[in-house]
Amino acid sequence: MFSRALGDDAELRPLEPWQAAEFAAYADRVRGALKPWIPWAYTVVDEASARAYLQGYADRQAADGGRVFGLYVSGVLEGGVIFRSFNAAQRVCEIGVWLAPEMRGRGLINRACRVLIDWAIDVRGMVRVEWLCDPRNEASIAAARRLGFTHEGTHRKAFHLDGEHRDVQVWAIVA
Ligand SMILES: CC(C)(COP(=O)(O)OP(=O)(O)OC[C@H]1O[C@@H](n2cnc3c(N)ncnc32)[C@H](O)[C@@H]1OP(=O)(O)O)[C@@H](O)C(=O)NCCC(=O)NCCS
Repeated sequence: MFSRALGDDAELRPLEPWQAAEFAAYADRVRGALKPWIPWAYTVVDEASARAYLQGYADRQAADGGRVFGLYVSGVLEGGVIFRSFNAAQRVCEIGVWLAPEMRGRGLINRACRVLIDWAIDVRGMVRVEWLCDPRNEASIAAARRLGFTHEGTHRKAFHLDGEHRDVQVWAIVA
């Protein structure tokens, strides 16, 4: 019902539990490309698990916490941006992103993240927006840098995915 135009027939839309079948089909389509970096690529495996993932964000949004949005191109779900965490009391939040491989290289995540960052800082008064990524994730690092995030340091062995404890780079924008 509601969307935010990003240009080039791309838009941000809410992604809600009723869209579980669409999100599950999307997960099947992009799973191989997201598995190296994105935890839900392992856990969203059918409509029920897609619904559980989206319901988790719906619950958090209702509590003014995390939020998930779908990135659509020509009406097709191609990516997502999330407030993985959103602490209104502390005024600190974290953004996460993913995109279907064939849609990369167009600046779509850049434009979508600008919407989230502007809203977080200008509307919600966030003083710190974080971006966490694996040091091996060159595309994510480039996206963070392009958005104006600053690399602050690296937490060692701070994140477990696919059988290994990984280092986590911490990037942030401060208001
Ligand atoms: C991380 C990820 C979302 C980045 O996608 P992306 O399309 O490269 O991101 P951006 O929106 O910043 O686009 C930048 C690219 O678009 C190009 N571009 C074109 N128009 C642009 C514009 N108006 N503004 C910015 N960049 C633009 C840039 O030159 C760049 O291309 P290049 O990489 O060939 O130099 C994507 O690689 C992905 O989904 N990876 C797997 C999931 C993942 O790792 N998520 C992050 C976990 S921390």
